[in-house]
Amino acid sequence: MKKPDFFKRPAVRVGLLLVVVIFAFIIVKQLLIPKSFNTYGFYRGDNVQEWVSMSAKYSSTGAAACTTCHGDRVTLKDQGSHKAVNCESCHLAAGKHTQATFDAKPVKDSTREACLTCHNKQAARPETSIRQIDDSQHYLGMTCTTCHNPHSPDLGGKKT
Ligand code: HEC
Ligand code: HEC
Ligand code: HEC
Ligand code: HEC
Repeated sequence: MKKPDFFKRPAVRVGLLLVVVIFAFIIVKQLLIPKSFNTYGFYRGDNVQEWVSMSAKYSSTGAAACTTCHGDRVTLKDQGSHKAVNCESCHLAAGKHTQATFDAKPVKDSTREACLTCHNKQAARPETSIRQIDDSQHYLGMTCTTCHNPHSPDLGGKKT
């Protein structure tokens, strides 16, 4: 029996196909690997610079960043039982706002839910470190800030 042409031999065809697939893989791999890959190790080097150039959403100095303009509230809070609670725990990220971009207003949330995040009664929450109330028993339907000043919630403090 006559042998088939070289390129028609099954083993050669499979071999050629394999070579094409391997080349295609290498080309696609080269195209997909970011240029900065392996600059510092097995990851994209540019990523480091991207993180460095990101601006912080929260102010870097906590309540001190609010003193210049809201000194009254900082003082009030420091004297009350919320002294350990950061302004931005309630008002959320205010980094931009502190840089005199007042249109970037921080969140001002007066709902019961905002306070209950920390104060709702939970068996797993130690009563000794944070006082808790039973949502359904404590003046249901009323906004907490009607009675408690959020910046000094002990009822001895004055509401501003
Ligand atoms: C450079 C001055 C300045 C600094 C610093 C500053 N604020 Fe303000 N803030 C203002 C001014 C002015 C307004 C009033 C803007 C208005 O009502 O248009 C305001 C308004 C607010 C409001 C009310 C937003 C509303 O919806 O009524 C909150 C809450 C607030 N600031 C929180 C903070 C916190 C928290 C910090 C610190 C992380 C801070 N601010 C730092 C100037 C400042
Ligand atoms: C426990 C949560 C909480 C903390 C901590 C807190 N705030 Fe507030 N803040 C509120 C709430 C709630 C209001 C809305 C008041 C209202 O509805 O009577 C408010 C209102 C404000 C306002 C707007 C004025 C007004 O009466 O509407 C400013 C300004 C402000 N806070 C600044 C600060 C600063 C500065 C700090 C840190 C020193 C701080 N807050 C800490 C909850 C908080
Ligand atoms: C991020 C957590 C957090 C949030 C949110 C929060 N608190 Fe507090 N609160 C505390 C901590 C911590 C204390 C101090 C420990 C204690 O006395 O339980 C405290 C204390 C208190 C006390 C006890 C005051 C006293 O000495 O008699 C009251 C009342 C109170 N908070 C009301 C509120 C109200 C109203 C809000 C919503 C405007 C609120 N809290 C939001 C953490 C929080
Ligand atoms: C009608 C007024 C009123 C409203 C509304 C109100 N409280 Fe109170 N709250 C009080 C009084 C009065 C006390 C008891 C006096 C005290 O301990 O300061 C108290 C006590 C507390 C205490 C301390 C509990 C303890 O074991 O010592 C916490 C925490 C508290 N309230 C959180 C809240 C939260 C959170 C809300 C909203 C979900 C809220 N309160 C709504 C009047 C109110």
